[in-house]
Amino acid sequence: MIIFLQSLMVCVTFFAVKTNPPSDVNIISENTFSRTLLVSWKHPIHETIVKLKYNIRFCTVGSGDWTEVPPNDTESSKESFRLQNLKPDMEHVVQVRCMHYTGYGYWSDWSANTTARTPEDSEKYLRSSIITCLTAPLLTSILALGQRSMLTIITTVTTREV
Ligand SMILES: *[C@@H]1O[C@H](CO)[C@@H](O)[C@H](O)[C@H]1NC(C)=O
Ligand SMILES: *[C@@H]1O[C@H](CO)[C@@H](O)[C@H](O)[C@H]1NC(C)=O
Repeated sequence: MIIFLQSLMVCVTFFAVKTNPPSDVNIISENTFSRTLLVSWKHPIHETIVKLKYNIRFCTVGSGDWTEVPPNDTESSKESFRLQNLKPDMEHVVQVRCMHYTGYGYWSDWSANTTARTPEDSEKYLRSSIITCLTAPLLTSILALGQRSMLTIITTVTTREV
């Protein structure tokens, strides 16, 4: 009886499963790539017990207009994926779901919303850093010049007084 139940459970585990959604869905926004977000998650069941495949969808916050990552990109038992060609400087919502890699059973529910903002456009970022790079020494030299002319004035005034 126990053996029967155990094999039944194994069967249930291997086939007709609808697992929990992937857990710990997390997004990393990488400053150097303004159009990408690195999504990571954890298998809801250890992969030695059940191998899963994944689905990822994303949209900008509030739009509800989901884009799905091509399923063949997340067919293998992975725990991270880099979304590409996103809009820079926008808040994005990401959800992940999973199912047995063979396609038997059902998709899990989608994971809860996880949001992250893509970095600012890197060209804009580059431009502003160039501007900072150029203006900082300029400001410093203006200040230095200013100090020097103040010194000159003071010196001139003092020399005259003497
Ligand atoms: C999750 O995000 C989508 C897209 O922005 C939105 O339509 C939905 O209401 C959100 N769900 C929750 C529970 O906040
Ligand atoms: C998934 O399919 C698309 C087009 O069907 C292809 O361009 C892409 O390289 C495939 N990805 C993988 C990981 O096989």
